[in-house]
Amino acid sequence: MQIGIESRVGLTNFTCEGEERILFAGLRAGLTLPYDCATGTCGMCKARVRSGTVETIWPEAPAFAKLQRDKGDILMCQTRATGDCVLRVPANVVPSAATPPQYRTGVVRHVEKLTHDVMHFEIALPAPMSFDAGQFVVMNVGGLAGGRSYSMVNHEGSVETLELVLKRKPGGAVSDWLFSADRTGQEAKIFGPLGRATLRPHEDRDLVCIAGGSGIAGILSILEHATACGHFERHKGQVYFGVRTLADGFYLDRLSRHVEAAKGALRVVLALSHETVNAPSHPKFPHIGVATGFVHDVAGSLLDADCAGTAAFVAGPPPMVDGAIRVLLGHNVPSTSIRYDKFG
Ligand code: FES
Repeated sequence: MQIGIESRVGLTNFTCEGEERILFAGLRAGLTLPYDCATGTCGMCKARVRSGTVETIWPEAPAFAKLQRDKGDILMCQTRATGDCVLRVPANVVPSAATPPQYRTGVVRHVEKLTHDVMHFEIALPAPMSFDAGQFVVMNVGGLAGGRSYSMVNHEGSVETLELVLKRKPGGAVSDWLFSADRTGQEAKIFGPLGRATLRPHEDRDLVCIAGGSGIAGILSILEHATACGHFERHKGQVYFGVRTLADGFYLDRLSRHVEAAKGALRVVLALSHETVNAPSHPKFPHIGVATGFVHDVAGSLLDADCAGTAAFVAGPPPMVDGAIRVLLGHNVPSTSIRYDKFG
């Protein structure tokens, strides 16, 4: 199928395979189609059908509530074409300078339960994959409908194994799949890398990271890259990591190692929304500070009043991301310096 995109900068075309999501086909063709989540929650990939016919893959996708479907609005990440079509996209769609994402099939390896509802797992790839710190992949497993987005935890530039983390959600098909049996050796189809909330090469600023739950994955990737390139020899960093209770904290050993390596330039605070701890630091991980409250409120109370020169990264559930962005704007971080992933 041929897809034409009418954007603010003119018409561009690409080919879409029969079963393929229009967004993925356009990204694979190297175009800067707009998106955030790639899984139907954010609404960023909105387009309007000008001609041709399309089919919705997941009609219940939450972001459809933001669209005028009676006027032909679609989510490109939840739509496949059933013939040639032309879509109007309210953005500048041009060839991207980045390496386009691809489909890959890997194998699930090293599944490890980190807390009662958080699972670390790894995908062994058939060939190395390069990605930027903070990027994510969309994964399909177990024949389940639809894909889910997972940020990579690791970052070594080019890897043969993706380290991912999943937080169990009530009724979540993938979390039920992963928690209900040992899935080691099973096939995992991924599409990526995706996402623009990344630590850029030669970033020359202090960093503030605010994460809720499994949103810490991409932040760890950013820390891994920052530590490896000596970023904290020149700049300071702060990480605020929100969980419910002390027992819900995970990857604290990894975070501690980054704090140690940064020699005083990196602060990590675990924000507990449902437990009060009367100590300034974690009882088992003394390099990790502890505070009570929702993570964006904790960050708001500890950040300097003026963070205008800071690069900020936010990752977590949409309400937490919205709260963190408000806090950062209130501390003079320009909106152009706030990069975030909003995973539903
Ligand atoms: Fe399609 Fe988020 S990218 S809804």
